[in-house]
Amino acid sequence: MNSQLGKIKQEFFKSLEEIKDVLQLEKLENEFFSRKSGKMNEVMKVLKDLVGEARKEFGILANELKIEMEKKLAEKKQELNQEKLGSLIQEEEIDVTEPKLPIHEGGHLHPETKVLWEMEDVARSMGFIVEDGPELDSDYYCFEALNIPKTHPARDSQDTFYIKDHPEWCMRPHVSNMQVRLLQKYGVPLRAAYPGRVFRNEATDASHEHTFYQFEALVVGKDINIGHLVGIIKELLRGLYNTDVEVRLRPGYFPFVEPGFEMDMKCLICHGVGCGACKHSGWVETLGCGLMHPKVIEGAGFDSKVWTGLAFGMGLTRLAMQKYKIDNIRLLQSGDLNFLKQF
Ligand code: DAH
Repeated sequence: MNSQLGKIKQEFFKSLEEIKDVLQLEKLENEFFSRKSGKMNEVMKVLKDLVGEARKEFGILANELKIEMEKKLAEKKQELNQEKLGSLIQEEEIDVTEPKLPIHEGGHLHPETKVLWEMEDVARSMGFIVEDGPELDSDYYCFEALNIPKTHPARDSQDTFYIKDHPEWCMRPHVSNMQVRLLQKYGVPLRAAYPGRVFRNEATDASHEHTFYQFEALVVGKDINIGHLVGIIKELLRGLYNTDVEVRLRPGYFPFVEPGFEMDMKCLICHGVGCGACKHSGWVETLGCGLMHPKVIEGAGFDSKVWTGLAFGMGLTRLAMQKYKIDNIRLLQSGDLNFLKQF
């Protein structure tokens, strides 16, 4: 077999043997199959310079190897999932003497879930794919890949929970952990939304929670500008609220966008007059946004002189408050059925 392919094969199988969990497996998959910089894809480029029989032979061998590697990856994934399931079943104890719970009337969705589903629908109608992502993730995707190196002060405001004995893993502090992962998975151009649960090392008070939900989206293409950014966000909000929403931009700093902004929307509850929901200012701080930093695009393996992008991320709580005209943030998380039953 061609020596280059042989080397890749050996390297792949050696690394595969050492894999212990799904995150490591995903990393390995990226190392070999990421669209732009995966080792296997690099090899495919060699094909271009070959001719005749050599080209044919190399093509066949490379393809066979690719199929074999993909099969092994899938098998390994299944094996890891089985192991996890096995240990979960072992841990579960069923107490057959436990009294049966009384049957209550059927439940319904939490207002934030409703808002989330509506946002997903609007995003899909605008051509975005909607993806889920891991809540436990690597330091790389949560920070490093987003231009937030180890010593960066932005780590303070996004402090999160780390896993004992695994300093390279953490509970994601934002869904931005999906930016580089999605670019590696789907390549460019890309339109993607990725909502989900996020975690912060916060003391809980009236407006801070250690666990909450975010909705984020990005667009990567050619010549993306701030006009696109504002237009897309306004359209999404219009889809959610069924009305035009007035917005304003303020400069804001996020290491993964340049320039970065904070966007406020005119309060839909008091129409700008001032109420509890907008802290009596008439405007609600709605989201962070900006044009994707070239380092993020380069980090995902793309040429930032050719590819540009926009990204924006927001918490679902404020969106739900505006949608359902709730002016006290504590009510949403209260678990108070008298309140929640209204929605
Ligand atoms: N990830 C940021 C946070 O959790 C929010 C954010 C800001 C997302 C700017 C973005 C962005 O996509 O462009 O605070």
